[in-house]
Amino acid sequence: MTVRINPSILSADFANIERELSKIDNADFVHVDVMDNHFVPNLTFGPQMVARIAATSPIPLDVHLMISDQDRWAPGYAELGAASVTLHVEATTDPVGTAARIRAIGSRVGIALKPDTAFSTIEEIAHYFDQILVMTVEPGFGGQAFMKNQMDKVREVAAFRAKSGIGVWIQVDGGVDPTTIEFAAEAGADTFVAGSAVYGSDSPAFAIENLRKIAREHSHHEEPHV
Ligand code: DX5
Ligand code: ZN
Repeated sequence: MTVRINPSILSADFANIERELSKIDNADFVHVDVMDNHFVPNLTFGPQMVARIAATSPIPLDVHLMISDQDRWAPGYAELGAASVTLHVEATTDPVGTAARIRAIGSRVGIALKPDTAFSTIEEIAHYFDQILVMTVEPGFGGQAFMKNQMDKVREVAAFRAKSGIGVWIQVDGGVDPTTIEFAAEAGADTFVAGSAVYGSDSPAFAIENLRKIAREHSHHEEPHV
């Protein structure tokens, strides 16, 4: 099955974003972590910066919103050109309505679960989304340790996907590196975010290919239709 590697520019040099984006042109999407120092205790960039990244990037944007009041802000990220916008279920009061607005603009829409949030929270609305993000760290910072205890949740989502036949992508984010990606791939993830493992490498392009190779070797789950 298709494996996607989405490097996170949270670990890139913010003063040289254009150059940093050019280093990852063999990736599938660039993962853009939007944080507001409210939903998470860190602050990154907002719509203006993300619009410039969208205009500059050689590959499509996978925006991960870690902000409060996502129903207000999320569709704006689709409008500025993000190919995918992922909401946190913990920060939306109208996930289905907001997802529909994002899809109507023409972007993919994802729903993210913090480590303490169970998949059952979103099971009934999963078919309104194109991607389910299982966080493998507490959101907020790059460079944290991979939470292997989230693999049961990934397996649960993969089992749900197989049973229901929905073509949703299963993404993991946090602590993904050459030693941990196999656990997520074996559990059924197909879309992998990696920040420090890519930008901390001497060769980001090689790091991406290496992650892709390991993930492919450990994937055995079928995607029903994508
Ligand atoms: C954390 C972010 C991640 C982060 C991952 O809140 O959502 O995307 O950049 O960084 P690494 O791969 O270093 O754990
Ligand atoms: Zn992220």
